[in-house]
Amino acid sequence: MERLASGVEGLDEILGGGFVPGSCVAVSGGPGSGKSTLGSQFLYYGFMEKGENGIFVTCTESPQEVKNNFRDHGWDIDEAIRKGKIKILDMRPVMATESGLITRNEALFEGESIPFSVVAKGTLEEIKKSHARRVVIDSVTTVKMQYAGEFQVRQGLLGLMQGLSNEDCVSLLIVESIGAKNIIPAEWALSHGVVLMNYASERSEVVRSIQVLKMRRTAHDQNVYGMDIAKEGIVVHTDVRI
Ligand SMILES: Nc1ncnc2c1ncn2[C@@H]1O[C@H](COP(=O)(O)OP(=O)(O)OP(=O)(O)O)[C@@H](O)[C@H]1O
Ligand SMILES: [Mg+2]
Repeated sequence: MERLASGVEGLDEILGGGFVPGSCVAVSGGPGSGKSTLGSQFLYYGFMEKGENGIFVTCTESPQEVKNNFRDHGWDIDEAIRKGKIKILDMRPVMATESGLITRNEALFEGESIPFSVVAKGTLEEIKKSHARRVVIDSVTTVKMQYAGEFQVRQGLLGLMQGLSNEDCVSLLIVESIGAKNIIPAEWALSHGVVLMNYASERSEVVRSIQVLKMRRTAHDQNVYGMDIAKEGIVVHTDVRI
């Protein structure tokens, strides 16, 4: 079976070689756990090492902030964009104008059943146009919060995931959640895979960890491993079990 390497040292080993094309994987974790870094690294690795096209759909940060996140790690996003290899799609429900006014994108702000289909349509159009093999949506939580009811969220997520899994790409759906006792996030239930990023404080040090909770269609390692975020990006320590 073909695999798409994540570009994260150690993670591909845990995944059994990488992600399976056609899969939608929830990358879940608390604030600052490394979700956006993982997404950026995944796209940049595809561009640099495999010549693959990628799309970063931003629903939270401005395209400028997204670019800065790449630049902070020394990843030349400007070159990737100039060459047409990585595209940043701005899908924020609200954004500030230059004068500081907060404006809404009516198609994405508090829609009924619309927001997920707006994201799906825009992303699928771009995948077809650029033949992207790597997609990151940061974050689906922002889209989900445009709905009042869990039923509409599930329908929306399901539609988005079905559309994405018809394409020959791997989609990382970023989720702002670490899960809660007895409550299964809809994104975890519906996606093909779940990667959970976490941290704990030990004395005065932060111990970061990563775990592949689920990956349909493949055997994988389910243990919790230590990880670090460095200037070069995320490194998973497969020799350190947490
Ligand atoms: N250049 C860097 N070198 C080392 N560590 C970094 C660097 N940039 C970011 N970090 C670490 O990564 C963390 C942020 O990671 P990231 O933005 O990927 O998290 P996130 O899970 O997307 O957070 P959020 O939910 O707030 O969007 C920072 O809090 C910092 O600890
Ligand atoms: Mg983030």
